[in-house]
Amino acid sequence: MKGVILAGGTGTRLNPFTKIINKHLLPVGRYPMIYWSIKKLSDAGIKDILIVTNNKHTALFKKIFGNGEELNVSLQYEVQKKDGGGAADALLCSCSFIQSEKCVVLLGDNIFEDSLVPFVTKFKKQSSGARVLLKKVKDPERYGVAVLNQDGNQIESIHEKPKRPLSPYCVTGIYMYDPHVFTYINKLRPSDRNELEITDVNKMYLANGRLHFDILEGWWVDAGTHESLFHANQLVNGMTDLEADL
Ligand code: G1P
Repeated sequence: MKGVILAGGTGTRLNPFTKIINKHLLPVGRYPMIYWSIKKLSDAGIKDILIVTNNKHTALFKKIFGNGEELNVSLQYEVQKKDGGGAADALLCSCSFIQSEKCVVLLGDNIFEDSLVPFVTKFKKQSSGARVLLKKVKDPERYGVAVLNQDGNQIESIHEKPKRPLSPYCVTGIYMYDPHVFTYINKLRPSDRNELEITDVNKMYLANGRLHFDILEGWWVDAGTHESLFHANQLVNGMTDLEADL
């Protein structure tokens, strides 16, 4: 199983910092934001990791993390050609890295408490399809939202940033895919915000009856705004098991 961290995007919600730096390099606790994604994958035994980022800032990522040796992982880098092309477009850049393996994909601005181990273990047992992780939130309209069936054991529909959310369950930026994902991405059309949406990929798996899910128990933050970045810092500062010193 391979890992992909999506760390491109324009990060406009974190202006003015993101005029000069990629948001995934902003500090969360004692480390750059993306460190936490690398650590989550590594702790789940996923050591072969690709970071997809934008052209302007790849050199900075390489300067901090290099080939990943210091963190006991193997890191490779890929540049997303279309700046602001969307998460699914960024994931497409990992096609030759993933080849025919399964992968765990993290949005690099998602900081969370739960270990990935139980979810990755379930995904390994899944013969095919995808698995997403949900989190009950107070502001679902900010995210992709999953509506569950009455028994709460199946996703019925997914909506990207709905004005009137029909459920409190956000689809977090933690996704697990079989290699079929690239066939789906190649069928996508840009959304209203002119991006290839990862939500549309998940909808395709859902339409084919191949989308499974789990629910996160611990805290979870999308650190893409000033308020949530501050909150992520507060939460991470409560965590102590730091192993690496960069
Ligand atoms: C993206 C996804 C959304 C998901 C969120 C999680 O939103 O499109 O479905 O819930 O990440 O962080 P974006 O950060 O692009 O607004």
